[in-house]
Amino acid sequence: MARPLEYGEQVLLWEVRRGRTFSFVLREGDAFHSHKGSVPHGEIVGRPEGSRVRSSTGTEFVVFRPRLPERMMKVRRRTQIVYPKDAGWLALALDLAPGMRVVEIGTGSGAFTILLAQLVGHDGRVYTFDRRQDFLDNALENVARAGLLDRVEARVLEAGKPFPVEGKVDAVFLDIPEPWLAVPPAYAVLAPGRPLAGIVPTAEQLKGFVTALERGRFVAVEAVELLERRILVREKEGVRPFERMVGFTGYLISARKALPAGKEEECGG
Ligand SMILES: C[S@@+](CC[C@H](N)C(=O)[O-])C[C@H]1O[C@@H](n2cnc3c(N)ncnc32)[C@H](O)[C@@H]1O
Repeated sequence: MARPLEYGEQVLLWEVRRGRTFSFVLREGDAFHSHKGSVPHGEIVGRPEGSRVRSSTGTEFVVFRPRLPERMMKVRRRTQIVYPKDAGWLALALDLAPGMRVVEIGTGSGAFTILLAQLVGHDGRVYTFDRRQDFLDNALENVARAGLLDRVEARVLEAGKPFPVEGKVDAVFLDIPEPWLAVPPAYAVLAPGRPLAGIVPTAEQLKGFVTALERGRFVAVEAVELLERRILVREKEGVRPFERMVGFTGYLISARKALPAGKEEECGG
């Protein structure tokens, strides 16, 4: 049975003619307004997602619950964010599952925090850190809008300091300009064998990051860049790639924590 849309939920209106999207939280007595007219929230509540609604000017929309990448892209941005194109690879590299615990530094706008929070589920924990309290406040509002605040803890922390987390965690994600600063504390907080991943925007940062990982007893270090091309599939004009594309978003890195030789007893801690 399709679960009807309720007040308090985030929804996405997809404009049928132009494919544009608008995202907002359903509130009693409120209405969605754009230059395409208005839609009272009361006309959306109670319907299943996938329903069609018309604005006051007759524009047709389909209403959805946003998928994970849409929730990430619709955050209120105070910083650059991790784009879905890269987030998929990074999420696989981090090997997260429900109930796991993950450390993240910098939180930024919380786009990637939303993905982490979804992956670890109700019983998992995301410990996210940033040097700026104002960024954390904004990120937590974004996480709350995505309905995932119950599993996220955020604190101010300068990279290089030990992560204030009890015990060992299952994965670490780094998205800061100087990721090498956070490599030794990441090693200290990670459970043996578990992954670290990160993203950096320049080749110089990539080299510094990889060097720090290799010196810091991480192994299986991989660096990749992903390119994504949209394909136009049209009845009359033919099928071909869209002529414009995002040229570059970042270098992606993953690695795993190896124990020093003869230190297998660390497994317990
Ligand atoms: C590119 S943003 C992270 C974006 C985030 N991953 C997202 O998807 O929204 C980088 C963040 O790192 C934080 N940062 C930069 N240097 C830092 C440091 N030395 N210690 C802690 N946080 C730092 C910045 O304040 C900024 O919020």
